[in-house]
Order: sequence, then structure tokens, then C-alpha cells
Amino acid sequence: MNIHFYERIWMWAAGVIIAMFIAVIGMTTVVYGLHPPSHVETIEPSKVFADPRFSKVGQVVELPDGTIEVQMVALMFAFAPSEVRVPAGRPIRFRLTSTDVTHGFLITGTNANTMLVPGYISQFTTVFTKPGDYLIVCHEFCGNGHHVMSGRLIVEEPK
Ligand code: CUA
Repeated sequence: MNIHFYERIWMWAAGVIIAMFIAVIGMTTVVYGLHPPSHVETIEPSKVFADPRFSKVGQVVELPDGTIEVQMVALMFAFAPSEVRVPAGRPIRFRLTSTDVTHGFLITGTNANTMLVPGYISQFTTVFTKPGDYLIVCHEFCGNGHHVMSGRLIVEEPK
């Protein structure tokens, strides 16, 4: 088959770019531990606050294996609770959901990042190594108060 010289160059260029994309995705997965949360658990959005799985919103729950569970609920246009305190260096399991529309959940400067879809519980576990004050933002457009929807995560020195 006779392929034009320039066409051949651009075919190779496209191939190299795709290989670079795949390499970057692979690197962020391995080096930064970034991966899509893959937890599928359903919940009735209108009854979140009556659901036993969200009976400890605002409390720090210590699980038998040493993991700390944080339950948070997103609603237009706030997170409940708006402030969470967790220790550094311990696995923290976030259990999150929404009572209304799709919200986002991003803890800036960390690998904690998920979508909160009504009807589903989002769950992920992460470890915060650096104590400090972290901003939690909603990064899915959810309505006219989207830009004010934020929370605060305080990572404390382990006791
Ligand atoms: Cu909630 Cu944007």
C-alpha cells in the first residue's frame, strides 16, 4: 500500500501522543494512587438522614481494623458536616452521598476526589500524611449556589 510520506509522519505522531496519554494515566495511577472510586451501593436520596448507614454524620467513627469512617452528606449547597477533623497517617474511609442532585467532592491537594450521585453511596479510603487545613469543594455544577459549596478538612497530628 502506498501511503504519502507526510501522512505516515502524522500517523506516527498520533500514535506517540496516544502512547503518552496512556503513560500519564498509568503513572498517576501508580505514583499518586489516583483511580476512579468503584463502589456500588444504593440509597434512597430523600431518606438519607433517616438511613442507619448515615446515622453518624458529624461523628468520627473508629472501625475495628483501625480505619476511621467519615460520613458526609452533600445537599444544595453545603456539606454536612461542614468541618471534619481526622488524624494524619491513619486510613480514613469516606462514605458520601447526596440528598438532591449530583455534587462533586474534592479535597484540594490530595487524591480524594469523587462524584456524589443521588441514589448512590460513594466510598473511598485514603491516608493524609500531612497535617493541615484542607479545603473541600464541590466540583460538579449543581445549581446557583454551586460556587459557595465548600467544607473544611482538618488533618491533625496523630496523638
Ligand atoms: Cu454541589 Cu456544585
